[in-house]
Amino acid sequence: MALCGGAGHSLEIAKALDNTGLLIGIDRDNEALEVAKKKLENFSNVKYIHGNHDEIQEILSNLGIEKVDGILLDLGVSSYQIDNEERGFSYMQEESMLDMRMDKTSELTAKDVVNTYSEDELYRIISEYGEERFARKIARNICEQRKIKEIEKTGELVEIIRKTIPAKFANDGHPAKRTFQAIRIEVNNEIKPLYETIMSSIKVLNKSGRLCVITFHSLEDRAVKNAFNDALRKMYVSKRFTILCLWCSEIRKNYKQKTDNSNRRRTKRKFKSKECKIKNF
Ligand SMILES: C[S@@+](CC[C@H](N)C(=O)[O-])C[C@H]1O[C@@H](n2cnc3c(N)ncnc32)[C@H](O)[C@@H]1O
Repeated sequence: MALCGGAGHSLEIAKALDNTGLLIGIDRDNEALEVAKKKLENFSNVKYIHGNHDEIQEILSNLGIEKVDGILLDLGVSSYQIDNEERGFSYMQEESMLDMRMDKTSELTAKDVVNTYSEDELYRIISEYGEERFARKIARNICEQRKIKEIEKTGELVEIIRKTIPAKFANDGHPAKRTFQAIRIEVNNEIKPLYETIMSSIKVLNKSGRLCVITFHSLEDRAVKNAFNDALRKMYVSKRFTILCLWCSEIRKNYKQKTDNSNRRRTKRKFKSKECKIKNF
């Protein structure tokens, strides 16, 4: 089972399976699934599921599958989503509508968050999910600005943030990147269910199954590491499992939004891996 995204990993998994096993490609973004279907059109052993990995147990049970041999969770947003102007993920595409939904069938948009959350709620998500030191001021200025006019476009939000962050911090990357990350995490509820997702994933692994998690930032890292550590500590065990976790935050730290710098920097993949055997699961 793998998250589809642009189907880069899925293509390699499908090739390796060589039609001898089934690949379940999950994504909550229907457009990503369409891209994956096209890319994997030569493989008949792939099932595409529009769904949320938080419901992995239910998804498998609906397919009549109890356990799987491998799970790849490449977390976060895809470059396809960031590059697509309509989706409103990028602070560089200033004419986009504030949207940021990975799943276009879900209700909450970035525009709702920016225009309806209280100052305290905005402060909480910008500081917690964006780790932004100017969170309070940004939250306050968003609330001031929306009294004048509803904030609709990415560029309008960028402008508020730009005016809020003191000039001497201008070289600290794009001023809007932390706030955009925070709002995107809130819109897609990316962090809270992660712990349970990892726990459920471990439960549906076959003996000697593998779970790979690729994280993008420290918040994901933390949730995944906590789940792994608790799994190691708490789980009652009668089989052996090998869990492999790829901590990719270093690669991703250097992965800039395409439009941030037209030369997307492809950095060498440095995996910090942790391999642990859970006995008596
Ligand atoms: C980083 S991309 C995956 C890229 C993919 N591994 C590749 O090789 O192209 C992450 C994908 O996971 C999807 N996604 C993120 N959170 C999800 C969730 N909770 N449930 C299902 N899909 C999710 C996103 O829509 C996005 O397409």
